[in-house]
Amino acid sequence: MNTKTNNAIGVFDSGIGGLTVVRSLMERLPFENIIYFGDTARVPYGIKSVETINRYAAQITEFLIKKDVKLLIVACNTMAAVAHQSIIDLSPVPVLEVIDASARMSIQNTKTKSIGVIGTPATINSNAYARAIHLLDKEAKVFSQACPLFVPLVEEGWFDHPATKLIVQEYLKPVIAEQIDTLVLGCTHYPLLKPLLQDILGQEVMLIDSAEAMADIAAELINKQNMGNHNCTPPDYTFYVSDLPYRFQTIGERFLGRTLGRVELVNL
Ligand code: DGL
Repeated sequence: MNTKTNNAIGVFDSGIGGLTVVRSLMERLPFENIIYFGDTARVPYGIKSVETINRYAAQITEFLIKKDVKLLIVACNTMAAVAHQSIIDLSPVPVLEVIDASARMSIQNTKTKSIGVIGTPATINSNAYARAIHLLDKEAKVFSQACPLFVPLVEEGWFDHPATKLIVQEYLKPVIAEQIDTLVLGCTHYPLLKPLLQDILGQEVMLIDSAEAMADIAAELINKQNMGNHNCTPPDYTFYVSDLPYRFQTIGERFLGRTLGRVELVNL
């Protein structure tokens, strides 16, 4: 494959949550063209089986590879947790995923080596975070907690609603009891809950934003492999979705922190 530096970075997610990763990439790599695919027709992935997630991930990988992307970024923690290897096997271009990025960042930041991880049931059940963290430091203690209600609450825009506060307190009780000093936000939606989480956990707990961690490792790889776009012109952003749900534009813009622009509907 003849990869050109001005080819886009392909980012994919189960829906709109991956726009938090796109937002960090836009800030960190302002000249890179980005093609995003959000599987809005089949979201959420976090409660689906490993087989189904792998099948969907393969279809999206093929779609983006046909768009001649120079790098693939798996923004969705759930897909990264269960389908990373099948994506790598299908991809002729480098693949980066959020779990490794966040694991690295958590190890760099923890002082007590007591790390909490929150994510969807599929991510937590896969144990992928604990494995990635232990590969970097065998002595780290990882306390994981699935938080299935966070995704719908964030999509509802209930970032600081009293109901969300109660649910956050309930889910976090076991990890707080372990006196963690670092909490990995292992899901695309959770960065939007950062102020509330920080409030409940206290300032002494460091939150690891997987979207920021991903932008850091993407920038590192692009520099190392000299893959950066040398055209310092305004980049092109294209957003593909498999369904155009009600309120997609509004919710998407909340995740992205800016206007979404062109959104195209595709059938995989
Ligand atoms: N994108 C998913 C993740 O980061 C959350 C939404 C879903 O369950 O599909 O795990």
